[in-house]
Amino acid sequence: MLDQINGIRNEAGTENLSTADATENFRIKYLSRKGLLNSLFDQFKLVPGPEKRDVGKALNELKLFLEDKWQTANNSTQKSISQEHGSDLSLPGESYILGSRHPLSIVKSKIAGIFERIGYTVADGPEIEDDWHNFSALNFPINHPARDMQDTFFIENQNGEEPFVLRTHTSSVQVRIMETTQPPIRMIMPGRVYRNEAISARAHCFFHQVEGLYIDQQVSFAELKQTLLYFAKELFGPDVQIRLRPSYFPFTEPSFEVDVSCSLCGGSGCNICKQSGWLEILGCGMVDPNVLENCGIDSKEFTGFAFGMGVERIAQLLYRVPDLRMYSENDVRFLHQFKSETN
Ligand code: PHE
Repeated sequence: MLDQINGIRNEAGTENLSTADATENFRIKYLSRKGLLNSLFDQFKLVPGPEKRDVGKALNELKLFLEDKWQTANNSTQKSISQEHGSDLSLPGESYILGSRHPLSIVKSKIAGIFERIGYTVADGPEIEDDWHNFSALNFPINHPARDMQDTFFIENQNGEEPFVLRTHTSSVQVRIMETTQPPIRMIMPGRVYRNEAISARAHCFFHQVEGLYIDQQVSFAELKQTLLYFAKELFGPDVQIRLRPSYFPFTEPSFEVDVSCSLCGGSGCNICKQSGWLEILGCGMVDPNVLENCGIDSKEFTGFAFGMGVERIAQLLYRVPDLRMYSENDVRFLHQFKSETN
C-alpha cells in the first residue's frame, strides 16, 4: 500500500494546476468524497496491525500534500478571476439601502385596517373637484359663511371662472358614492386634501384625511358612538376613553368633535394635551337629510353617520411628531425612524 501512496503522490505532484478547471478536476480526482484519497483511507482499514503505523503516517502526509497543493492553486486562480473582473470577488457584497414606508402611509393603512375589519370598504375619488361635490351637495349654500371654514384653492378656467377647486375634504367622495350607490353603504375615503393655509409647524397647505360613511335603514347615533369607541380602542389601546363635544358641520346634524383621553398622561394633563387630558382627533355627525336627498337617497327610509379625521394629526399623536412639515420634507433621518413599523 505504501507503493500505491507514493505513486499517487508522484502523480499528483506532476499535475499542472494553472487554470480554475484543472484545479477543480484535481479536487474531484483526489479530494472529493469518491476521490483517490478517500479510497486509500477505505483500504487503510484492511492494513494488518503492524503496518498500520507507517502506512497511516504516509497516508496523512499524502492528505496534507494534496490539500495544500489544491488550496494554493485555488487561491491563485480565484485571485486571477478577481483581477479579470477588476474586483475582489471574495469580499462580501454591498448591502442595498432599503427604504421604509412613509409614516402617513403606515397610519393610513392602520386606520383603514381597523374599519375594514368591521365591514367598511375603501373608496377613492378625484382631488380636483367641482363646487357641487365639494360644497353644494354637502349643504353648503352659495355664499354661505361655512365655506370660509375651509380655505379653498380655486382653479380658474380660461374665462376667469372658477369652476373647480382642490378638494378641501374627502367628503366629496362621500357625495360621489351616494350619487351612484344605494344603501347599505359602509365605506371609508382616505385621500389628500388641500387648504390655503400658511405653512407652519401646525398647518400645511395639504394634508391627508380618512373619512367614513355608513348609511342604512335605522342607523343610529348610538352606533356612531360605538363605532368611534371601537376605533379609538383599536388605535390607541383598550384603556382609551372618548368624549363627544357638540360642533357644527353643514353636512351633519347633529355634529360633534371627538376627543380621546391623552395617552401620554392618561388624562391628568400634560404638554401634548395642553393640560386638558383630552386630544381632539375627528369630526362626525348624523348625515343631514338634505345631503341624502341631494344625492338621490330617500331620507325617510335611510339614515346614516359620517366622520372624518386628519391622518397627520393621528400620526402626530401615535409617534409624537412635533412639526407637520416633517411629513413632506423627505428627510431620510426622519423617515428611517419608521423602518421597524410593519403595518
Ligand atoms: N369634512 C370634515 C372636515 O374636513 C370632517 C367631517 C367629516 C365632519 C364627516 C363630519 C362628518 O373638517
